[in-house]
Order: sequence, then structure tokens, then C-alpha cells
Amino acid sequence: MAKITFVEHNGTEHVVEVAAGLTVMEAARDNNVPGIEADCGGACACSTCHVYVAPEWVDRLPPKEAMEEDMLDFAWQPDPARSRLTCQIKVTDELDGLVVHMPEKQI
Ligand code: FES
Repeated sequence: MAKITFVEHNGTEHVVEVAAGLTVMEAARDNNVPGIEADCGGACACSTCHVYVAPEWVDRLPPKEAMEEDMLDFAWQPDPARSRLTCQIKVTDELDGLVVHMPEKQI
């Protein structure tokens, strides 16, 4: 299990416990966390599951694949260092304590 904190753009925090093996997007969806729309259902084809990873976590996540990198170009105000697509991040016990911030909007 891993505890993940989702921070809405307005500062509202949602802390969820997630089983290893799910994705960070699924963790948000299954816990009704607002701000992650995931229109494509996790196929890395929409960019509406975009978040900004807390700076201290950027280097602790598995690196982005080329497909995620490409799709992030379509996200709202992507940050080259901190932006990730949550459907492409698998939850592991090592992610316990992860903090991600939602963008102002998803496009
Ligand atoms: Fe569509 Fe992540 S859910 S890219």
C-alpha cells in the first residue's frame, strides 16, 4: 500500500491509500478525487490525467516513456520537470508519501 496526496489547484488535499499495482490515475478515479478526468481511461491518449509531481518526488519516480513525453505536450501548461500523466505511473510501496498537484484545468 502507498499513501498518495492529491492537491487540487485550490489547495484542497485528498489523501488516499492505494494498493500496489494500480496506477496513480486509478487511485484518484477510484477515490473520487476531483481534477483528474482520465478521458481515455489510461491509454496515454488524452493528457487529462496530468499532474505536477512535488519537486522532492520528481527523481524518485520511474522515468517517462516517449509516449508520455509526447502526450504531455497537449496538457495544460506542462512543466518540463514536474509534469506527469498519472495513468503512466504504477503505484508501488516505494511511492508511499507521494504528493501530486493538479493543474488549474485539464485539456
Ligand atoms: Fe488519458 Fe492518462 S488517462 S492519458
